[in-house]
Amino acid sequence: GRVAVLMGGEGSEREVSLDSGRNVFEALRARGIAAHAIDGMPALMRELQAQGAGRPAYDRVFNILHGGVGENGVLQGLLAALRVPFTGPGVLGSALTMDKIRTKQVWQAEGLPTARFVRLPPFATEDAIKAAVQAMGLPVFIKPSAEGSSVGVFRVADRESLSPAIAFAGQHAGELLVEQLVDGGEYTVGILGHVALPSIRIVPAGAWYDYHAKYVADDTRYLCPGLSGEDEDELRRLALAAFRAAGCHGWGRVDAMRHADGRFALMEVNTAPGMTSHSLVPKAAAQVGCDFEELCWRILETSLP
Ligand code: DAL
Ligand code: MG
Repeated sequence: GRVAVLMGGEGSEREVSLDSGRNVFEALRARGIAAHAIDGMPALMRELQAQGAGRPAYDRVFNILHGGVGENGVLQGLLAALRVPFTGPGVLGSALTMDKIRTKQVWQAEGLPTARFVRLPPFATEDAIKAAVQAMGLPVFIKPSAEGSSVGVFRVADRESLSPAIAFAGQHAGELLVEQLVDGGEYTVGILGHVALPSIRIVPAGAWYDYHAKYVADDTRYLCPGLSGEDEDELRRLALAAFRAAGCHGWGRVDAMRHADGRFALMEVNTAPGMTSHSLVPKAAAQVGCDFEELCWRILETSLP
C-alpha cells in the first residue's frame, strides 16, 4: 500500500525532521514500498480528506515529524479518527511524553527513578527561577517541559550562568523544569516493538550533549552497548518499563543519565526519535545486525493494526 512519510512541520526541530524524513523515505523506497514524502500535518490532512468517503490516500503513515503536533497526540488523534494506522505511540503515550514534567510524575508514582525537579509556570519570573534553583541546589538543567533536541535547555553550574536561562524563561509560553543535574554519564535506549535495543553511552566532547553535539559536531563519541552485564540489563529493563508506564508502544527512545554512584535516572521518552546520520536508534539497531533499511521496515511493521 501507499505510505506517507510525514516530516518537517513548522516547529523548532523542522530541519532535523526533514533530514530524518528523507532518510526514511529513501530506505522505504529502496525496499520497494510506495513511500510519499509529506511536509507538515496540514498537507497530510488535505490529502487524506481530499479522498472524501472513499479509500484514504494512504494506507499507513510513517511519522517522523519531531516535536509539536507530530509528537504530542494531535496527529495521533486525527489519524486514529480517520482509521489510518501510524508508527509510534498513540494519543496517550504521545501526549504524556511530550510533557516531561508529567512523564516524570508518572514514573515517580510507579517507583521508577528520575532526577529531582521543580516545576515552573509559563513566563517564569526571575524570582521564581532563583527560588527553584535555590531549592534544587546547583548544578541544574533548566529546560522547557515540551521541547526536543535540547532546544531551550540551559546547563547552569554557577550563579553567573543563570542569566541566559532567566531571559529565555521570561519569554517562554510553556512550563519549565529546573532539574537536578545528574552527571555520571548519559545513556539512551531505543525501543523497537517489545524489545529494548542495546544501550548507547553518549560522550560529548563539550560539557553536555546539546543541539550542536547532537547534529553538527563529529566529535561526540557513542559507545554501544553502553554498559555490560547486569548494569546493561538493568538499564534496558528500566527503559522498557518507563516506556510502558508512560502509555507508549510501537517504537521510541528512552533517555537516561547515571548518578556518580551508579544509580540510573530516567530523563524522557521520544516518540518520533531522530533518524539522521547522527541519530541513536539506528546506531543501536546496527549493533544487533539490523541496518537502516531493515530498521525502517521493522518500525513500519509496528504500525500494523
Ligand atoms: N527529538 C529528537 C529528534 C530525538 O529525540 O532524536
Ligand atoms: Mg527529546
